[in-house]
Amino acid sequence: MRIVLGIESSCDETAAALVTDERVILAQRIASQDEAHRPYGGVVPEIAARAHAERLTPLIEATLGDAGMTLDQVDAIAATAGPGLIGGVMVGLVTAKALAMASDKPLIAVNHLEGHALSPRLADAALEYPYLLLLVSGGHCQILLVEGVGSFRRFATTIDDALGEAFDKSAKVLGLGYPGGPALEQLALQGDAKKVPLPRPLKGSAEPHFSFAGLKSAVLRAKQSGEYSDADIAASFQQAAIDCLVDRLRGALAKAGKVNALVVAGGVAANKAIRGALEELAAGHDLPFIAPPLGLCTDNAAMIAWAGMERLERGQSDPLDVAARPRWPL
Ligand code: KG4
Ligand code: ZN
Repeated sequence: MRIVLGIESSCDETAAALVTDERVILAQRIASQDEAHRPYGGVVPEIAARAHAERLTPLIEATLGDAGMTLDQVDAIAATAGPGLIGGVMVGLVTAKALAMASDKPLIAVNHLEGHALSPRLADAALEYPYLLLLVSGGHCQILLVEGVGSFRRFATTIDDALGEAFDKSAKVLGLGYPGGPALEQLALQGDAKKVPLPRPLKGSAEPHFSFAGLKSAVLRAKQSGEYSDADIAASFQQAAIDCLVDRLRGALAKAGKVNALVVAGGVAANKAIRGALEELAAGHDLPFIAPPLGLCTDNAAMIAWAGMERLERGQSDPLDVAARPRWPL
């Protein structure tokens, strides 16, 4: 049995996990920084980097302790090397380098997006390449054809805001706090999605991408008009977002050729209304719909350990001078 230690620190979660080649998560710990960033209504890079630097090493020690293991029993050390907030990425990657050097184990520099993209395979041993992935979080909004490790075709990305960002900004307009995605979903349950006329940016256009900035501005105008209840605005916003997702995914499915599943990942995948719409879309294309458990959808280190494991199994590792990358498209 092989074991990889994974480290994640690219945004506001400090996380470590131990994952086996048999897809067992032996231990994992996540320290969220939501409290530290809440007063600012978003992630402050400098605060994030300092918090990672304080917390990461004891967190790794505690994770090894949870599994009753020492570093000697680990086969490789994988860390997010980008994309993300560079200060945090550097804390995680440099820590991984030091551990790899001290224990004489291979280092694997993982692309955070690849971590999200491969996480469904950690949860589901039967999921084979290729599959179509909708990756939607606070920082990412992409449709990817996942063909294998390191092998992706990107069909769509956002030309402005990520979907989670649009949820968070709209939630802020409605006074729901940060991060507001989950609160907006709750409020939408009490609203009527047909009440507020909101745009569906790029829906029906030949261009494959997403755009949510106009939708977010329309939410602000609806709120300022004083004509609608917050619940109706929330429900209408969520439905507009879903209509955009489904429209863009239809286009991607038409282009992708044969795929084994429609898969969703990223923090926004927690949204039940979105999951329901994607499930229906997949069924209409005779495809299984796969959503990893929520703990694997949001930022976590198990997905980084798993991406590291897939690379380790293919004989891949990285030199100790591998660079941290703020931008790193798949
Ligand atoms: O993947 P994640 O934990 O972090 C990154 O952004 O990479 O995603 C967090 C994002 C936030 O924007 C949050 O508001 C959104 O996911 N989110 C949701 C829901 N739960 C989390 N958005 C809509 N509905 C939800 N239930
Ligand atoms: Zn992420």
